[in-house]
Amino acid sequence: MLSVQIPDPDHAGSVHNVTVTPAVWDRILAMRAGYACGCCGDWSAGERSALALYGPLARRDLGPMTVAQIGQSLDGRVATHRGDARDVSGPDGLAHLHRMRAMVDGVVIGVGTALHDDSRLTVRFCAGTNPARIVIDPKGRLPDSAKMLWEDGARRLIIQAVDRPRAAGIEVLRLPLVDGQFQPQAIIAALHGAGLTSLLIEGGGITIASFLEAGLLTRLHIAVAPLLIGGGQAALTLPVQRDKLADCIRPATRVFGLGSDVVFDCGLTAAAHLATRPAHPAS
Ligand SMILES: NC(=O)c1ccc[n+]([C@@H]2O[C@H](COP(=O)([O-])OP(=O)(O)OC[C@H]3O[C@@H](n4cnc5c(N)ncnc54)[C@H](OP(=O)(O)O)[C@@H]3O)[C@@H](O)[C@H]2O)c1
Repeated sequence: MLSVQIPDPDHAGSVHNVTVTPAVWDRILAMRAGYACGCCGDWSAGERSALALYGPLARRDLGPMTVAQIGQSLDGRVATHRGDARDVSGPDGLAHLHRMRAMVDGVVIGVGTALHDDSRLTVRFCAGTNPARIVIDPKGRLPDSAKMLWEDGARRLIIQAVDRPRAAGIEVLRLPLVDGQFQPQAIIAALHGAGLTSLLIEGGGITIASFLEAGLLTRLHIAVAPLLIGGGQAALTLPVQRDKLADCIRPATRVFGLGSDVVFDCGLTAAAHLATRPAHPAS
């Protein structure tokens, strides 16, 4: 059972309001490309908060990274009881999700999300490169017409257990099931083997929870929108239930204001803690 407690006294307590100007986003993209640092420059307080939030995702000097993000209501829901999940996050929360996509080699979703949302998984609300799009689809349920499989120059990968042929250009990674599931470690290893070492697990809750429980997430961003859904689908339910609060995951958390939404940036590993320390790419 994963239990995380990483003290981070530097960031406890305060909310950092984020301003993403074109200049600071250019710098963050340059960090991601490996030729700039996040510590030098004359930045406003909001821009410095943007560097603090996205810098750890942009840095490539700390090795492979797997982050997850979930957008939820104040009462911890991602959809109504009828499955209406559009616009849980406000415009700033949505822009945040696109910025996270721009930080990674690949975006991973479970087939439940792919079937329900039919998202394109592209970067549209900020400058940046479209990451590879990956779906975990053990039974081969995703139709070839799904938008995430559309040809646009980005890699498209399907992780399957069955022998279902796919259209030319779509990469199929065949993995074995263990007790009816792919082992999350095997998924990460297969994606690293495919050259994708920075990954965003974008949902849904079942998929994020399995990587979280396996201790494979470097960071988890929870974007909370000022909305009370009052029922419906819960954001995260871990496969292993804790009896005591002392056994629950209590990550080092930094808090950022993004317009109407608040992002809790949870560091889950020692590498996540290190990444919040400013450093030149070469150091
Ligand atoms: N608010 C947000 O941030 C956000 C983000 C994304 C999605 N959503 C919402 O979340 C809902 C869908 O989420 P969900 O949690 O129900 O489903 P999901 O996580 O998207 O997909 C779960 C399915 O993916 C496959 N899968 C994932 N990990 C696997 C593993 N390790 N081994 C084998 N199969 C695996 C399984 O497919 P099989 O069933 O075929 O075995 C599993 O049932 C939708 O309503 C969507 O709108 C919200």
